[in-house]
Amino acid sequence: ENDERESLFIVNEFARNYFAETLFEREEGINIGQSYFKERGFREETLKKFQLGYCADRWDDFTQAALKASYKEEYLVTTGLTIKKEDGKTFDRYKGRVIFPIHSLTGRVIGFGGRVLKTGDKTAKYVNSPESLIYHKSQTLYGIYFAKNKIRDENNCFLAEGYTDVISLHQSGIENVVASSGTSLTVEQIRLINRFTQNVTILYDGDAAGIKASLRGIDMILEEGLNVKIVLFPDGHDPDSYVRSVGGTAFSTYVKENQKDFILFKTSILLQDAKNDPLKRAEVIRDIVESIAKIPDSIKASVFISETSRLLQMEERILLSELNKLKLKNA
Ligand code: CTP
Ligand code: MN
Ligand code: MN
Ligand code: MN
Ligand code: MN
Repeated sequence: ENDERESLFIVNEFARNYFAETLFEREEGINIGQSYFKERGFREETLKKFQLGYCADRWDDFTQAALKASYKEEYLVTTGLTIKKEDGKTFDRYKGRVIFPIHSLTGRVIGFGGRVLKTGDKTAKYVNSPESLIYHKSQTLYGIYFAKNKIRDENNCFLAEGYTDVISLHQSGIENVVASSGTSLTVEQIRLINRFTQNVTILYDGDAAGIKASLRGIDMILEEGLNVKIVLFPDGHDPDSYVRSVGGTAFSTYVKENQKDFILFKTSILLQDAKNDPLKRAEVIRDIVESIAKIPDSIKASVFISETSRLLQMEERILLSELNKLKLKNA
């Protein structure tokens, strides 16, 4: 099994180099791939740092090159770089896409994400590596290799949704950031963050999906015993689009001024249209106490109960009795 893992890493490293070479040295890569990244505001040093690439828009340009270089078809297929159809024909999974290599904690290439150049086509915006011996999506945080030291130094981890959020923030000097690669955060991803810091700031997209995922992420992070803050971006912005529109300094200021603890965040989201409706208010309070009940540290939990009491004008005694009920139920 170790031999096979090593073979998959080696194939992925060949692919990363091939896609980067296509991006930097071939006409198609320069004209199409580099233009795409430049339009997004990615500088050349950024393309190099994140080892970004481009896969030519032909059926099996990469697969043929890999076979010619004596890489086994079997490994090309298990890493997902090559797709083999029932009739035995093979083609490139990422054809015509820009390439985002995904790195392990130690910087090896465990997988790839490939983005179409124009969305709205019939195909998915991103195509990613399938699960394999070396790639487990649920255990991976995009960018962790580049961010881990900064996360430890800052004692805080920014958690975004996407590849481009991580890359744009790094380019703007904010390097303690990783992505869950979509909105379905997992316990394994939270435990990976926990190796470097106990403090997470969620920077999900400012759309309905991002808000919903933040609410879910909050409870999971609290349950793992970490601290969580949430930043909501204006008008459907994500961290990439926002940092590009205001710059790194203003981005940091925005984060400092707008990060909310989970109680303030939940209150502002859930109370929006319930201000004077007592039943809705009760629901919001219950919802917040449910989150507090997930916090393993009882001193922290009681501090949050006090905050809730102050904010939502509800006697602490009542909140505590509700908290204890929930804890008994969860135990
Ligand atoms: N994602 C995915 N497959 C999709 C859509 C999204 O794997 N079909 C993952 C990718 O890791 C993506 C992240 O979810 O980076 C967030 O999705 P989204 O916000 O839609 O994309 P962005 O990262 O904002 O990408 P872009 O700015 O290029 O549109
Ligand atoms: Mn494994
Ligand atoms: Mn999104
Ligand atoms: Mn985006
Ligand atoms: Mn996004």
